[in-house]
Amino acid sequence: MKQQKATLCPEKEPTSQILALFRGRPGMTISGAELGQLLNMSRTAVWKHVHALKELGYQIQAEPSRGYRLLATPDLLIPQEISAGLAVHRIGRQIICYREVDSTNRLAYTLAEDGAPEGTTVVADTQTHGKGRLGRTWVSPPGVNLYCSIVLRPSIQPTAASQLTFLSVVALARTIERVAGLTSRIKWPNDLLIADRKIAGLLNELSAETDRVNFLILGIGVNLNMLPEQFPPDLRQPATSLAIECGKPVHRASFARALLEELDGLYGTYLAKGYEPIRAEWLRRSAMGGRTVTVTNPGYELTGVVRGIDEYGALLVQGGNGHIEQVLAGDVKLVENNPLV
Ligand code: BTN
Repeated sequence: MKQQKATLCPEKEPTSQILALFRGRPGMTISGAELGQLLNMSRTAVWKHVHALKELGYQIQAEPSRGYRLLATPDLLIPQEISAGLAVHRIGRQIICYREVDSTNRLAYTLAEDGAPEGTTVVADTQTHGKGRLGRTWVSPPGVNLYCSIVLRPSIQPTAASQLTFLSVVALARTIERVAGLTSRIKWPNDLLIADRKIAGLLNELSAETDRVNFLILGIGVNLNMLPEQFPPDLRQPATSLAIECGKPVHRASFARALLEELDGLYGTYLAKGYEPIRAEWLRRSAMGGRTVTVTNPGYELTGVVRGIDEYGALLVQGGNGHIEQVLAGDVKLVENNPLV
């Protein structure tokens, strides 16, 4: 396993505990003596940890002979910011944040192999080798976007694993609507588009035996605050970010929190009611129903009209000969005009 940089602010660290105390008394001044007493440390140690928080970007006022007051928090992807007020049953109960990793998917996969519980969420500010679909790279600059991977351990057959891909993209579409009030459209299997520009991508990876899933990694990358000039010029598909679409920056930690809640809610629905409600919502939010697409696989190309997805997540495409083909993998392009409709 490659060496990873240290995690950011694990929840049991004193800096995290100080933040939790400030959050418990919003806007109030807490004396150094009280902080020291509550955390079982000297006032000098309190000062040191407050200083560390300031270094991270927290605005903390030291009021002579009164104490410390938290004035403002930065948009940091650290467990305390993401989990403040987080209401979940499974997904996001354990959040591990890094400043830099090679790939959150790779790291989450390793943690899952080592027994990480269901719902463990790995978040990074930047990825040096972000993985995209079909062996591509996911551009992951620091300070602007969300890159996260979640460990799931559903009791399902490996053939049903793609259902979780549909679940995660629907949860993401719901999150974008909730946070920014924008409607996004899903492009099979797991791209999310706003006005035909890609805003997010999902890469789900599976560890399975013949008849059971060991674990699944939901890998999610969302372009939140990326500026037009930060996108590589040679992107295969036009891309956008939420900030570009809504004209103002998006608070990353709040977005991550909302995403975890939507994923958790939908996963609860999936466990209780199965795949059908997810499939129905996927179809409603899909950019593809009735659109003409070209599907490309090595040595194979099919142009036809999308008629839906089946229970295994295959795209159903009706070719020029009228037959409906089941597409299980491949690169799908939406065709501008709809000559086959
Ligand atoms: C795609 O090609 O559209 C899928 C992109 C998935 C990117 C995310 S970012 C977080 C997670 N970690 C990775 O290395 N990849 C996924």
